[in-house]
Amino acid sequence: MISRRAWVATTVFAPLVRGFAQSSNEIQVSLRLDQPGATISRHIYGQFIEHLGGVIYDGIWVGPDSKVPNVRGIRQAFIDAMKAIQVPNFRWPGGCFADEYHWRDGIGPREQRPRTYNMWQANYPDRDKGVEPHQFGTHEFIDLCRLTGAEPYLAANVGSGSPREFHEWVLYCNAPEGTVSLADLRVRNGAREPFNVRYWGVGNESWGCGGNFKPEEYATEYRRFVTQYPNAYGRAFFIAAGPNGGAPDGHLSWTRRFFAAMQEHGPRLFPDGWALHYYTGPRRAGKHPRRSPERYYDILEAGLRMNWLIEEHWKVMGEYDREHRTKLVVDEWGVWQPRQEQQVLGPRYVLSQHGYLRDALHAALTLDIFNHHAEKLAMCNVAQTINCLHSLFAASGDQFVRLPTYYVFEMYMPHMDAQALPLQMEAGSFAASAGEQTVQLPRLAGSASRKQSSALVTLVNPHLQESIRVRLECTGGAVREARGRVLTHEDPFVETELGKPEAVRPTSLAVEVNRSGSGLTFEVPAHAVVAVELRLG
Ligand code: AHR
Repeated sequence: MISRRAWVATTVFAPLVRGFAQSSNEIQVSLRLDQPGATISRHIYGQFIEHLGGVIYDGIWVGPDSKVPNVRGIRQAFIDAMKAIQVPNFRWPGGCFADEYHWRDGIGPREQRPRTYNMWQANYPDRDKGVEPHQFGTHEFIDLCRLTGAEPYLAANVGSGSPREFHEWVLYCNAPEGTVSLADLRVRNGAREPFNVRYWGVGNESWGCGGNFKPEEYATEYRRFVTQYPNAYGRAFFIAAGPNGGAPDGHLSWTRRFFAAMQEHGPRLFPDGWALHYYTGPRRAGKHPRRSPERYYDILEAGLRMNWLIEEHWKVMGEYDREHRTKLVVDEWGVWQPRQEQQVLGPRYVLSQHGYLRDALHAALTLDIFNHHAEKLAMCNVAQTINCLHSLFAASGDQFVRLPTYYVFEMYMPHMDAQALPLQMEAGSFAASAGEQTVQLPRLAGSASRKQSSALVTLVNPHLQESIRVRLECTGGAVREARGRVLTHEDPFVETELGKPEAVRPTSLAVEVNRSGSGLTFEVPAHAVVAVELRLG
């Protein structure tokens, strides 16, 4: 029997390491249906929304008086699309904004809320330059979560806030009516039932915009924030601000020094989650046009670094926390385009980018990596859900469009809360120019999972020209039926634009199942994501 560790390696990355290539375009893939591994938390499929450009204002919040269809001010189309993919959580209000956010500014009658400073809006070309209007606050956020079925994940302000402000936010959210005065204030503001927030981030990027702390200093702050947490109203899942995965060494020193500083106090105070951030920008193909093969391969290959980051940080954490009490939380990940390719929706839509099929492939490769590391990951959040960076949607006024990445979340939905299955393939790798360098990419990558009598296999073919014939051999169970879907487009660089029909949508994929239910064959086209759902006998 192959160990879990080994199959992770053989499945996605060993082909890169070994570098052997097959000449034929057929790849044999083996799936063990009877070896369910770790549960893939649905929270791995989480979202991140920040008060940044057009994410909240216009993206999600249109206001109750808007002509845009809405529920109590929240864009209806957004609610519907999020429900359709069973969104498990939203992280809010930042990001960097979390460390300048004071929650009291965002409660009470909306017309009386203050206008405060928001550094993300500093380049606005109009009278809202630098302004945060606070029309979307804690109540509106919880409303969004309830309307979509998502769990709230709030990021507390460490950079410019205090433990007291944090604890009072917790009391405001979670204390039942008639207990502390802040609970009654919440009731007067229209919410009788507590919000029952369990996930609390303690700062954000505390090595950078969250205060420029040293890891030891942040460890001290972290302890101050969590020590007197008011746990009479429910236990928290604390998420501490982890490393910048984009740093050349993966920022392993931030992880090492934080846990070393925490160790003096014993594992009791270790956080539940350790937040790793990793954005993929073009590293070697910046001079190439945005719709070039070089940029495409550069981004996809750079995204694979996520696997290394998870493994290395996990190892370092294990040096201090042998039982791995603390899990990893990748609460910001995605593609980050260069400056000259942002604000594509207009100057107020800070960090808005084009949504390409390439980004959908990047998301699929990333989610497959997450599935392989299910036992290490408590949560992950794509940055950001709408109008910003690696988005699932673009929206402006009454226009709203799903970007290709949305459909990856839709196709991967059955992985949520399923058990990871061993998927083995000797796919080999291919070489591609990423501008200044040649990179190796797997010819095929993927993951699989099982929930009761159904299983899901998801696969990515990153090659721009070559399609692959997959022979999937299933052992430990028989397949009764299979349903395939594929996400691709004849033009790999097609742009999805607001006001135009969605350029990229999944279509059905023919899958042949042999008589015994042990073998399946199907085609994975070039530059495509495939999902095959299996009904087991
Ligand atoms: O997602 C945009 C920004 O990227 C976030 O505010 C910050 O945490 C990160 O640097």
